Amino acid sequence: MFRARPDARPATVEVLVEGVPVMVPQGASAAAAVLLAGLPAIRETPVTGSPRLPLCMMGVCFDCLAEIDGVPNRQACMVPVAPGMRIARQHGARVARP
Ligand code: FES
Repeated sequence: MFRARPDARPATVEVLVEGVPVMVPQGASAAAAVLLAGLPAIRETPVTGSPRLPLCMMGVCFDCLAEIDGVPNRQACMVPVAPGMRIARQHGARVARP
């Protein structure tokens, strides 16, 4: 079994969460970046406006829907971070594009 050395530090990448730079371990998800940023919510439910944050971190609950690099309605827990990635809150229901 392979293990990381105790003194090893993972490489990090800088992403923007709501315009604020956040350092995230390379290979982590955009949802992890949202949680590291300490936002109170990444989206609101379309019906009640209830705030949501990533919950399951495995693509089941859809509480992590966010706008990533200008594309709305993405499951942030399924998207690995990339340098310079822009993650923004999603408000209400997705807007259908023609
Ligand atoms: S956190 Fe549950 S689907 Fe992304």
